[in-house]
Amino acid sequence: MKKIAVLTSGGDAPGMNAAIRAAVRYGINEGMEVFGIERGYAGLIENVFLPMNMRTVSDIVQRGGTLLRTARSAEFLTDEGQELAVKFLHKRGIDGVIVIGGDGSFRGAEALSKRGIPTVGIPGTIDNDLAYTDFTLGFDTACNTVLDAINKLRDTMSSHDRICIIEVMGRGCGDIALHAGLGGGAEIVLVPEVPMTYLEILDRLNEDRSKGKFSSIIVVAEGVCKAEELQRKIKDSLGAAVRATVLGHLQRGGSPSARDRYLGTCWGVQAVKLLKEGKGNRVVGIKDNRFIDMEIDKAMKMKKEFDYELYDLANVVSNSAISYIH
Ligand code: F6P
Repeated sequence: MKKIAVLTSGGDAPGMNAAIRAAVRYGINEGMEVFGIERGYAGLIENVFLPMNMRTVSDIVQRGGTLLRTARSAEFLTDEGQELAVKFLHKRGIDGVIVIGGDGSFRGAEALSKRGIPTVGIPGTIDNDLAYTDFTLGFDTACNTVLDAINKLRDTMSSHDRICIIEVMGRGCGDIALHAGLGGGAEIVLVPEVPMTYLEILDRLNEDRSKGKFSSIIVVAEGVCKAEELQRKIKDSLGAAVRATVLGHLQRGGSPSARDRYLGTCWGVQAVKLLKEGKGNRVVGIKDNRFIDMEIDKAMKMKKEFDYELYDLANVVSNSAISYIH
């Protein structure tokens, strides 16, 4: 394997730059020529290849976002788009590709592998919604960003005896809400995996109020409902002062945490090693604190298991009398 290329695709995630840097530098160190592809699969089918060297990845390990930029490409999903991508890769003599992204990006990596281009995926998404790996790149940083917001909002909400609703990212996966809610001591955590009725939420708030606790933090994953909708309902039912904050894309930016830099660096190196060994059609991950790799299709067929025990525990430690799981 002499020439490899790396791209980032889908939603950006803090730690992607650490992975790019590690793949480029380790690849060059192993005697390879390394290219960066701009704007993910969109750049690939537009033939945008940047020759990388040790210096092109200087000063990025501490930066959020992605040096290579990213995109979601509808054209790459078509046969014509994929044929074009393979044509450009062959033309440049690229022997292997590293794709950093989430599940959609991995489907693209699988398509390239099936068309004869050995491709390795690195899990890069703040959502932590990939079943085969315990953690994805950017999740830790996003949780810390949410924690910072919870801390700040708690200061002002408790000073005013207000209820605060904080909407975080996570359409189908409540991991950001759960982990940040647990760490931030949220009184209520709403995730798509655990249905909670509006009456249950009210019961919980009323119970807090009966104990003389008038300020509560509710962390809600975006896949459950809109923060403002809940704000209006609670305000109408309790007549309480309620404020809503949507953290949105704030959660996707920022300097990566130590953990995300570590994961990005190790996965960047691991991906190059796999390509060097002639292994494509694989994704890298971490399971029980050990770095793993597996076939893309197998990884994509696994169903993400929500940590119900942790969810229950979050309720117990936030002093809830109610268990929603057992
Ligand atoms: O997949 C990552 C993610 O940040 C989701 O949590 C969120 O729902 C979505 O991307 C937002 O996408 P966009 O960048 O297109 O607004």
